[in-house]
Amino acid sequence: WGGAAATAVASLTLLDLLVNDDLDIITDKFRHRLTKEEMKDRPNLVILGTGWASLCLLRKLYTDRYNVTIVSPRNYFLFTPLLPGTTTGTTESRSIMEPIRKYCRRSDADDVTFIEAECLQVDPVKKTVKCYDNSAVKGEVSEFELPYDQLVMGVGAESATFGIPGVKENACFLKEISDTRSIRDRMIDCFETAGYPGQPDAEIDRLLHFVIVGGGPTGVEFCAELNDFITNDVKKAFPKHLTDRCRVTLVEALPHILTVFDKNIIDHVEKKLQSSPTTKIWTQTAVTGVKEREMIVRDAEKKERSVPYGMLVWATGNAPRPVTQKLIQSIGPEVQNVRRGLVVDEYFRVKGADGIWAIGDCSVTPLAPTAQVASQQGRYLGRLFNDISEDLHQKKQGQMNDQEFTADLKKKPLFKYRHMGTLAYVGDKSAVFQIKDADNKTTTSEGLATFLLWRSAYLSKCLSIRNRVLVAFDWTKASIFGRDVSRG
Ligand code: FAD
Ligand code: NAI
Repeated sequence: WGGAAATAVASLTLLDLLVNDDLDIITDKFRHRLTKEEMKDRPNLVILGTGWASLCLLRKLYTDRYNVTIVSPRNYFLFTPLLPGTTTGTTESRSIMEPIRKYCRRSDADDVTFIEAECLQVDPVKKTVKCYDNSAVKGEVSEFELPYDQLVMGVGAESATFGIPGVKENACFLKEISDTRSIRDRMIDCFETAGYPGQPDAEIDRLLHFVIVGGGPTGVEFCAELNDFITNDVKKAFPKHLTDRCRVTLVEALPHILTVFDKNIIDHVEKKLQSSPTTKIWTQTAVTGVKEREMIVRDAEKKERSVPYGMLVWATGNAPRPVTQKLIQSIGPEVQNVRRGLVVDEYFRVKGADGIWAIGDCSVTPLAPTAQVASQQGRYLGRLFNDISEDLHQKKQGQMNDQEFTADLKKKPLFKYRHMGTLAYVGDKSAVFQIKDADNKTTTSEGLATFLLWRSAYLSKCLSIRNRVLVAFDWTKASIFGRDVSRG
């Protein structure tokens, strides 16, 4: 078993290196590096964020060509595709986190500076970022300003609430590792509280009603994990009179869930989720308000009613973060005229701002806001920065003007997105897959084989061998011993 597992992890690592064209991680070891002396006066490159876009950029970047500083409120990278499974303990939180500091130590000369802080505001005129320590421990200094020559916005997006009253105060979200802990804690607490002696029937029904708002991939994958957890683990551990009353409702405003997929996949997933006796899908139903113990829903006939719930998870897509919104406003609506995020040119330069680049979910491109897109954009921009490092150096020294720089940049290769298909876990050891070829012909698959493809694809996408091993171990552990139903 040990040998087979090691071979599998090694093959997936090699496959990942080849598929992602990541072999330059190896060749990078042999290239000429600038000395400490030569590194003086190199451009200050500030990277905001430690997510898919920023880390994939950093992994490609020749860090001796710039004075690199990374600013992010979290000092780790999060492998978001496995986040839904972390809420139920299919994977452990540490297995899907990568310490960013591991990627900051390159050599004595070209270390990258990491500062754990949230960027509050970018001043595109003064070319500074204002940051603040939003963690619990604060020193005498908890705010600072950082100058940049080049700034990469890789801050991702936050969960959209559309200003619906009560969502921020009462709903759980699924974006950060802390969200997985809150969801798990709340869910188990609901079961334990429902079991109180003398708990009225209506209250038991309320406590054991779990609602997911948003039938996109996040809502569906979480719903699938929740079904698995209730069916395979909770039902074994908690009394039958409680588990029989547990209900899961997936609420979607549109006529169907998973609208990014083809009709046959949508039908398959809707049927599959509803085949579980606990699960219902309410389509054409919008949540218009969330109170502490009940939500307000508006159905297709525009009738509003109140529905009691024990836990409500909000997964209705992305909205720009405050720092992105402020930058959009400070550049102005003449060029930054899309509310979803930062408008960029074909090289990811933020339109209307000199020296600012944006990649991943905070930027606006025709592509979907996914990890697949963000990672490829990050890798592209890392390579582009290696390619234009001398130009940016000369620009900083005043030896090259904007027109000359842009003329040089236009000679560089453009970003080409390679779509590897869309995969989603739909529960009970089943996943769905869809890919379109160059002629727009769609190929789809679903079932156990697709589930194995889903697992191997995401295992190969983990950024380190350590995480691959940990995730594989978690999956094995959960399938042999089941998931833990204790709180905390
Ligand atoms: P993120 O990965 O979100 O990173 C943003 C970074 O910026 C973080 O480090 C954050 O701490 C930091 N930051 C935030 N605010 C500030 C600030 N003010 N200053 C400085 N730093 C800041 N995509 C797929 O392709 N496949 C999947 O299976 C998939 N599954 C998903 C499952 C879930 C539950 C979720 C929520 C998303 C999933 N996605 C998936 C989408 C994918 O996670 C995002 O598209 C991807 O994370 C975007 O990368 P990013 O680097 O732009 O942002
Ligand atoms: P989404 O935008 O894809 O879906 C949100 C859903 O919520 C929409 O269907 C919308 O109609 C619905 N909605 C909005 N407001 C509502 C309301 N008030 N009441 C009821 N329903 C409401 O968002 P999601 O799922 O968070 O995904 C965000 C991005 O991350 C997408 O680009 C997605 O492709 C990507 N992602 C990809 C995954 C994968 O490839 N497996 C997994 C998770 C996310």
